[in-house]
Amino acid sequence: MSHLDDLPPTPGKYKTDKVPPYWMILHHHRYLRLSKLTLWASLFLALFLFYLILSPPPSPSRRNLNDSSSVSAAKYGGSHWEKQVRKSARPRSPGGLTVLVTGASGFVGTHVSIALRRRGDGVLGLDNFNRYYDPKLKRARQGLLERSGVFVVEGDINDAVLLRKLFDVVLFTHVMHLAAQAGVRYAMQNPGSYVNSNIAGFVNLLEVSKSANPQPAIVWASSSSVYGLNSKVPFSEKDRTDQPASLYAATKKAGEGIAHTYNHIYGLSLTGLRFFTVYGPWGRPDMAYFFFTKDILKGKTITVFESPDKGSVARDFTYIDDIVKGCLGALDTAEKSTGSGGKKKGSAMFRIYNLGNTSPVPVTKLVTILEKLLKTKAKKKIMPLPRNGDVEFTHANITLAQAELGYKPTVDLETGLKKFVKWYMGFYTKKKSSW
Ligand SMILES: NC(=O)c1ccc[n+]([C@@H]2O[C@H](COP(=O)([O-])OP(=O)(O)OC[C@H]3O[C@@H](n4cnc5c(N)ncnc54)[C@H](O)[C@@H]3O)[C@@H](O)[C@H]2O)c1
Ligand SMILES: *[C@@H]1O[C@H](CO)[C@@H](O)[C@H](O)[C@H]1NC(C)=O
Ligand SMILES: *[C@@H]1O[C@H](CO)[C@@H](O)[C@H](O)[C@H]1NC(C)=O
Repeated sequence: MSHLDDLPPTPGKYKTDKVPPYWMILHHHRYLRLSKLTLWASLFLALFLFYLILSPPPSPSRRNLNDSSSVSAAKYGGSHWEKQVRKSARPRSPGGLTVLVTGASGFVGTHVSIALRRRGDGVLGLDNFNRYYDPKLKRARQGLLERSGVFVVEGDINDAVLLRKLFDVVLFTHVMHLAAQAGVRYAMQNPGSYVNSNIAGFVNLLEVSKSANPQPAIVWASSSSVYGLNSKVPFSEKDRTDQPASLYAATKKAGEGIAHTYNHIYGLSLTGLRFFTVYGPWGRPDMAYFFFTKDILKGKTITVFESPDKGSVARDFTYIDDIVKGCLGALDTAEKSTGSGGKKKGSAMFRIYNLGNTSPVPVTKLVTILEKLLKTKAKKKIMPLPRNGDVEFTHANITLAQAELGYKPTVDLETGLKKFVKWYMGFYTKKKSSW
């Protein structure tokens, strides 16, 4: 469990304002009798120690590369940086939102940021560019964001100094919180990264948000995985979510509870979105549709899981553009937070919604569609689904999001995968040199 040792120190831990110990006071009296020379020497020594304390910590890149918990060394500050931050966050249309998007260089974050910017909102991105999957893809998305006028600050949501600085420079009306350690099976290799980003980082963001004036309204990504071993379908928001099947799911469920406390205690307006298997262009290389495509093209055997009763494993695949509309709907309908100066003034809104597609597709069907689009037969190995995090079936009931966010998914899996494959071929084969 060494990753957990890398957690940043608890804020306030080093603030033990103790009375100076006895020996220091004794020394103090003795110093009065010391010669001038010794005094100067000690002053010099003190200055030197002060310098050592202030010098930057060692670069996180020299630590465990798999540990996304390492708070990156400061890559911010200065008047040029502040100008970029302000410019990016300034809405272009009157009445536009001013949104801090965390995880902006991620799959969903990139799409949401660009959609917001396109309709005239101000958007500032934040991302730590961790190496959970190829950072080159995150950098390419950052290029896309820059061309759309979105500046991405490189930093960690655990960095309270940075977050406070951002809230000092910009009066954010909204936070779209998408930064997280995603992936279900990776939790067995690196559990600390889930605790660090999905719990500690989220709490840090909520702490800074509740103290901000004005407090922003927050929309954040939860996950369909919170339904865990729930077997009642379709999954409705009221169903039980107390049987997570992975640490990832458990941290997302914890996030929902933590969010509720910040709503209750500080009057923060909070909206949680339970995404169901999001896919599309600029997607995540750790997801099946993505690495199936890669492996089918390479002629590599793919492993297709079936449920223990030989039934197919199915997912409620949701196209990225539909998810983006759901995110924008949530931001637009979020009421203001009610607190100020870290104090609650009245009750604020707390909402949880499913964002799915309402039509689960067996993973075998996903493979058939990919074979057709790639014009290549897949080499398949059928295996029973291991009990290490993945659930057999997901299916969203989206009645609530439909009624309250105007959410209405329109893209079926075949249409969406066509767009994904088109992007994939362009990105990884044709234009490779330009990235
Ligand atoms: N894609 C899906 O199918 C899906 C399903 C359910 C929930 N979600 C949730 O939606 C959100 C976005 O997912 P995604 O698919 O875009 O994932 P992603 O990994 O592509 O994006 C997350 C981004 O957050 C950044 N990040 C991670 N930890 C950070 C930290 N501590 N500080 C700053 N940045 C950090 C990463 O570098 C990454 O760019 C996540 O919260 C995820 O858990 C996604
Ligand atoms: C990161 O994780 C991968 C997969 O578990 C492993 O093969 C690799 O050695 C790890 N790298 C580091 C630097 O720990
Ligand atoms: C779907 O959710 C709505 C609202 O939460 C609920 O009233 C309805 O009964 C659910 N439908 C099914 C089929 O579970």
